[in-house]
Amino acid sequence: MIELAEGFLWGASTAPHQIEGNNLNSDFWRLEGRMPGSSYSGDACDSYHRYREDMQLMADAGLNAYRFGIEWARIQPRPDLWSNAELAHYRRMIETALELGLTPVVTLQHFTLPAWFADEGGITGPTAPDRWRAYIERVSTILDGVEWVVTINEPNMFAMMTGLAQMITSGNLDEWVSPTVEGEPDANSATSLPAPDPEIGSALIALHREAVGILHAHTNAKVGWTIANQAFTSTPGNEQKFAEMSYVWEDLYLQGSRGDDFVGVQSYTSQPIDANGIVPHLPHPDNTLTGAAYRPDALGIALHHAWEITEGVPLLVTENGIPTDSDERRIEYTTGALAGLLDAVDDGLDVRGYLHWSLLDNYEWGHWEPTFGLIAVDRDTFERTPKPSLGWLGEVARTQGASLCAGARL
Ligand code: BGC
Repeated sequence: MIELAEGFLWGASTAPHQIEGNNLNSDFWRLEGRMPGSSYSGDACDSYHRYREDMQLMADAGLNAYRFGIEWARIQPRPDLWSNAELAHYRRMIETALELGLTPVVTLQHFTLPAWFADEGGITGPTAPDRWRAYIERVSTILDGVEWVVTINEPNMFAMMTGLAQMITSGNLDEWVSPTVEGEPDANSATSLPAPDPEIGSALIALHREAVGILHAHTNAKVGWTIANQAFTSTPGNEQKFAEMSYVWEDLYLQGSRGDDFVGVQSYTSQPIDANGIVPHLPHPDNTLTGAAYRPDALGIALHHAWEITEGVPLLVTENGIPTDSDERRIEYTTGALAGLLDAVDDGLDVRGYLHWSLLDNYEWGHWEPTFGLIAVDRDTFERTPKPSLGWLGEVARTQGASLCAGARL
């Protein structure tokens, strides 16, 4: 039996905009009305009011950790206005998690920004360093007792999204040509997105470093950020291309976390790199609801890659999951992913926890159809219905992974 680190975290993750509802002052709320073919987040899962119920379900299932986020747009709805009531709301969330025996893993920025700050130029604008510093200082006042803090979620994806938004606003979208798979637009993978601009990436690294300093000065938390791990693999002879693509898509950011207390690993699928770059996901009956390849082995690849590039920063799986209508498939996928995690621990990697994406069927940035949740949510009544995978993951947690040995792993 593989020994896991003491206090290994077993839990699930969410992001505020995707579950809270009515995040009225954020830039994404404003964008939702403008993105063609997209749905609104609306009331989302109403977790702004129902967070205790969400946490209770996790605790009852046997999980011991919950990753959730703080929404900057609520804390600072206008440039010159801070909300003490909203700070108190997030403090109550932290205290509720602690009361229920869930270790809170708190994300300070998960893709969204206050709309006014986006209008000032957002994270690449002239006010970014001062605005960010003020937000981090303000939020650090409510983090007493929080052991794990994520500064920025997926800076690599956020850099890509920021670049895309800049292309749209400047009318230069045709600078980037969307690739196709078998004549159809490839809508489902990193290949369908413009590569993150390393200049934006460097700006984010500077903001991260600033936040790490402030949080270390004001709290006792372990501080890190979370990376969208690509789990790229090289096809024979294309090692140079693999290195180039890996650098632009993730290694820059993994290098940016060297020396941190931990790095969050977020893994869903894997893609090969050939002479032309990222090989698109080909249509396949096993593909997930977002069209990505079914690759439970991606997590093991991602953990090894993150460990190598960060030069041994402790690893915390902060997201891993599958968009699927079949909960059996969710369990099968997660069993495979956890096999990779246990192998990584066996190989000597320092892995501190596993947080599944996601706790709830939530708002997937414009869409409701890709369901990632361990819990289904009725969008009219907000009634929560745990799926078998929630109890299954709780059992894995209670047995420290031993229950997996009875199943597919050994
Ligand atoms: C993000 C989540 C998202 C998930 C599934 C990650 O990129 O952090 O917000 O919902 O992947 O697509």
